[in-house]
Amino acid sequence: MDYIVCRLSKRALPELVHIEQDAPHPMWNERLFEQEFSHAHSRIYGVRFEGALVGFLICHAVVDEAHILNIVLKKNVRGRGLGKEFLFSVIDELHKLGIKRITLEVRVSNEVARCLYDALGFVPVGLRKNYYSDNGEDATVMSLNVRQCVMRFHQVDVPSHIGSPLGFLDRQSSVSTGGEE
Ligand SMILES: CC(C)(COP(=O)(O)OP(=O)(O)OC[C@H]1O[C@@H](n2cnc3c(N)ncnc32)[C@H](O)[C@@H]1OP(=O)(O)O)[C@@H](O)C(=O)NCCC(=O)NCCS
Repeated sequence: MDYIVCRLSKRALPELVHIEQDAPHPMWNERLFEQEFSHAHSRIYGVRFEGALVGFLICHAVVDEAHILNIVLKKNVRGRGLGKEFLFSVIDELHKLGIKRITLEVRVSNEVARCLYDALGFVPVGLRKNYYSDNGEDATVMSLNVRQCVMRFHQVDVPSHIGSPLGFLDRQSSVSTGGEE
């Protein structure tokens, strides 16, 4: 099984909207995704399996800090380590771009996502009360020291069920040009 991580272009909009529908609390519509493609600091990554988009991650990167706005995988590929591999691939890429710290918000009830962030070394640094507009849920703010994460994660083997490392590291030229595969 080979998963490929890459930057996405606007052509992926219908797929992004489709995958967002698999999120437990879908908050992003086509207009919001489209806006992200016009922001200079926005970076939109996807993970593909046999050509089909199975997940995405959206972040903003400014100088040496990045903020993750959203990460979603299709339901049928969750819970097998792909989220961790995908997120680490993006962290590794951001590290190469000079990003030193990554922050994000996560619903206090989202145990799997909190587990994922915790596994990569994100630590809770704050609480935003009533942060989510759909149900008033609080958000935990988490922060990652990118260099420490990269050093630690490179010492760990890729899980056997992933089959082979994500193609991302071999595809830096397409990543750095900002185009899609
Ligand atoms: C959050 C998400 C991206 C994680 O990806 P994933 O492939 O399912 O997660 P992984 O299999 O890589 O597991 C990551 C960690 O969570 C743990 N985990 C996975 N599924 C779990 C479950 N059902 N219950 C508890 N822990 C779980 C894993 O054990 C792993 O921790 P470990 O490395 O310490 O063992 C994915 O589940 C998803 O798209 N969820 C819906 C959208 C969402 O909630 N996004 C987060 C927005 S902040």
